[in-house]
Amino acid sequence: MNAELWSDIPAEHYLEREYPIVKEYAKKNNVPFIASIGYTPEELSNLGPKVEKAGVDAIEFSTHYIGRDYRPVVEAAKALRESVSVPIFAKLSPFTPNIPELVKELEKVGVNGIVATNTIGPALSIDVETGMPIVGGPYGYGWLSGPALKPLALAVVSEVALNSKLPVIGVGGISRGVDVIEYFMAGASAVQICTAALIEGLGVFKRILKEVEEWLARHEYDSILDVKGLALKYLKPEPRRVWAEPPIVDEKKCIGCGFCEQVCNYDAVHVLPDEKGKRVARVDINKCYGCGLCTSVCPTRAIAFKEYIT
Ligand SMILES: Cc1cc2nc3c(=O)[nH]c(=O)nc-3n(C[C@H](O)[C@H](O)[C@H](O)COP(=O)(O)O)c2cc1C
Repeated sequence: MNAELWSDIPAEHYLEREYPIVKEYAKKNNVPFIASIGYTPEELSNLGPKVEKAGVDAIEFSTHYIGRDYRPVVEAAKALRESVSVPIFAKLSPFTPNIPELVKELEKVGVNGIVATNTIGPALSIDVETGMPIVGGPYGYGWLSGPALKPLALAVVSEVALNSKLPVIGVGGISRGVDVIEYFMAGASAVQICTAALIEGLGVFKRILKEVEEWLARHEYDSILDVKGLALKYLKPEPRRVWAEPPIVDEKKCIGCGFCEQVCNYDAVHVLPDEKGKRVARVDINKCYGCGLCTSVCPTRAIAFKEYIT
């Protein structure tokens, strides 16, 4: 959690001191230089032209907006679009309302891509020794980032990808190569990493890139683009399961860890020896309610609903 409420560095310092260094680095390494600015239409109209003049290739604008009406995000996009000509990317917060309609509006305004998502909150964490909040935003609130955010951000990425042709940059909780694969499968064209880089240091990028390359090679893909949007065909408005059918255990994959048994609320899953003495999970179809908690915790994906078995 963080409650970063201000920057001690004025915009001029960024523009005059930091930007030239990043610009030179980007040019030397043949990578795009993307600014990230916020938040109100007035601030974006003011800062946008300045960062464009400083030589950025694109601008991400963050609204950090969590209200119930998406119009402020569109207003921010309009203000920036009217003041710069480089590509602009709208960064959304989780729980942004009516994403399908919002992305259509953003397309109309001339937004070139979506970034999903920002941190989630307000969130609260209390030090039980003192009773005081740990990070110091209003009401002690902070904003949550890192792995807890990933399932929420992935849902937003897929919702954008299902409803728009705009490229999506996925962000939230990436700390391993498989997280990147997951974001690409949900429709992302690129990803960002913040918290993991702050915790682990800049070496995180090299490590995750290596993990992505190893995963792709192991699964015989030539490029990460081969997995892009792969999950979207399974993400339909109607649920794939409409009855309480028990999941099926793949005995070859089951390592007998017992996690499924531990989490089952209905006493329906038990790890028992098979005829050769190997301990495997078994589901009692008379007790199972098909809630799926066991399928979501299984570390080897050995227990799954038949609709998800390829
Ligand atoms: C310390 C900190 C400061 C952040 N400041 C900003 C910010 O100024 N603008 C913004 O759009 N997002 C900001 N974020 C959000 C991140 O860019 C990112 O969207 C979010 O943390 C989720 O990604 P992660 O789990 O990889 O950190 C900040 C995150 C952290 C942890």
